[in-house]
Amino acid sequence: VTRTPLIAGNWKMNLDHLQAVAFVQKLHWTLKDAKFEAGAVEVAVFPPFTNIRSVQTLIDADKIPFSLGAQDVSAHESGAYTGEISGLFLHKLKCGYVIIGHSERREYHNETDEIVAAKVKAAIKHSLVPVICVGETAEDLEKHGASAVPVAQLRVALDGVDPKADIVVAYEPVWAIGSGQAATPTQAQDVCKALRGVIAETLGDEAASRTRVLYGGSVKANNIASFMREPDVDGALVGGASLVVDEFAAIARFP
Ligand code: G3H
Repeated sequence: VTRTPLIAGNWKMNLDHLQAVAFVQKLHWTLKDAKFEAGAVEVAVFPPFTNIRSVQTLIDADKIPFSLGAQDVSAHESGAYTGEISGLFLHKLKCGYVIIGHSERREYHNETDEIVAAKVKAAIKHSLVPVICVGETAEDLEKHGASAVPVAQLRVALDGVDPKADIVVAYEPVWAIGSGQAATPTQAQDVCKALRGVIAETLGDEAASRTRVLYGGSVKANNIASFMREPDVDGALVGGASLVVDEFAAIARFP
């Protein structure tokens, strides 16, 4: 199976809807000038909720070959959940993806593995591809090594998931996020391989060979190629560098 590399930009809480539109337009031009071949690499942007409509309108109107995703989704479908966003709403806005269980949500919003698992099911129910984030803190790394925590997190997240569902897994060591200190390609490969093992164990070999496993944490234009050379790393979840057009374009052009 060949897995199309996925370069995903998680904007976090940055860029308002006007800046978002300008950014996507500029990114599109930059990649077009570079004769970027859509299809060889999939580029996805994950703006804040309030920008999704504007970005989607632009992508549609200008036939921009980027995928669109949200940064979170409610575990519930509708009802008295003030402030939450249903997967149904995201699907209607033509979002293809949704990030679930990012370490910032686990840390600041107390998202447990069980909440993450419920959100994964809600996303799949509404035809959104969940980008399931897992990763160890510096303390976990010291105590248990790199893969124990992400492996345990993914086991819970995938429990009861339909083996045919389209999912993406992102390994993001918490100590590497926004720190400028990326994991080494070998570290990323080892954990991504272990995570692929969890997919095989829970969803079967077919799912394991087709599912993309990303690395995230201080990915930049100057280190993307070293990660992409690893057999079990199928792309990157990029934070800070996804907010700089030239840098993100350079990451998307890694081949
Ligand atoms: O979701 C993206 C990650 O948290 C990585 O962020 O590229 O700024 O380290 P970073």
